[in-house]
Amino acid sequence: MPAHIAIVMDGNGRWAKKRKRPRNMGHQAGLKALRATIEHCVHLGVETLTVFAFSSENWSRPASEISRLMEIFLRALDKEANELHANGICLRFIGDKTAFKPAIEKKMSEVEALTINNNRLVANIAVNYGGRWDITQAATQIAKAAAEGRLSPDDVDEFQFAKFLALAESPDPDLFIRTGGEMRISNFLLWQSAYTEFYFTPTLWPDFDKQVLDQAITAFHSRERRYGRTSDQVKGFTGA
Ligand code: IPE
Ligand code: IPE
Ligand code: MG
Repeated sequence: MPAHIAIVMDGNGRWAKKRKRPRNMGHQAGLKALRATIEHCVHLGVETLTVFAFSSENWSRPASEISRLMEIFLRALDKEANELHANGICLRFIGDKTAFKPAIEKKMSEVEALTINNNRLVANIAVNYGGRWDITQAATQIAKAAAEGRLSPDDVDEFQFAKFLALAESPDPDLFIRTGGEMRISNFLLWQSAYTEFYFTPTLWPDFDKQVLDQAITAFHSRERRYGRTSDQVKGFTGA
């Protein structure tokens, strides 16, 4: 089983449009799909799930869509936190949280504190997240530590660098799923997905279910992860 699955939950707007409904209905339906996906991941024994809920670029959307999204997000935090906690889910929010209204920022911290000791599944929710933001904020922290003499520039290697990234506590994702048919990363986990297996599906996020997740996992099992080695090496054959 992939220990860590990352998902770009895309296609909410198109799902709503197909039904001649406003885009926020698609986001609402997307929330249901997320709840079901968390449940299924727990059931499968996945250890970490990281989902892209709002990107640093999504602020460019119409103000009305952003405010609807924020309402849905805040309401979901209020409504779902206790049940997620009861089910042993540890919730973490990754991204630049300072951009949110104080009420949302406070709620995110409360939910993180409530669920911090849970260990059935770590669910990282990426909000106002961007892979470039992540790498840049890590570089800033490292530069500050070096300037203050807490870290020597010569000690900064990949391993040390990763400790300053938003997902420092989680292993790199094994499987990266994007719904909605686009085949791009859209500034999600740039650093962390160096050796992640990608799976793209045309299924729109609100229609994502167990079956599609199982298909993605089946595809993952058929991949040979070589990390730069030859296929023979991976299969354990020796020889030149
Ligand atoms: C993903 O669905 C959710 C967010 C980015 C918040 P979209 O809203 O991007 O849906 P499409 O891609 O327009 O269908
Ligand atoms: C990526 O989807 C971000 C999220 C799913 C939160 P977008 O819909 O924003 O991506 P682009 O604009 O199609 O690349
Ligand atoms: Mg989209």
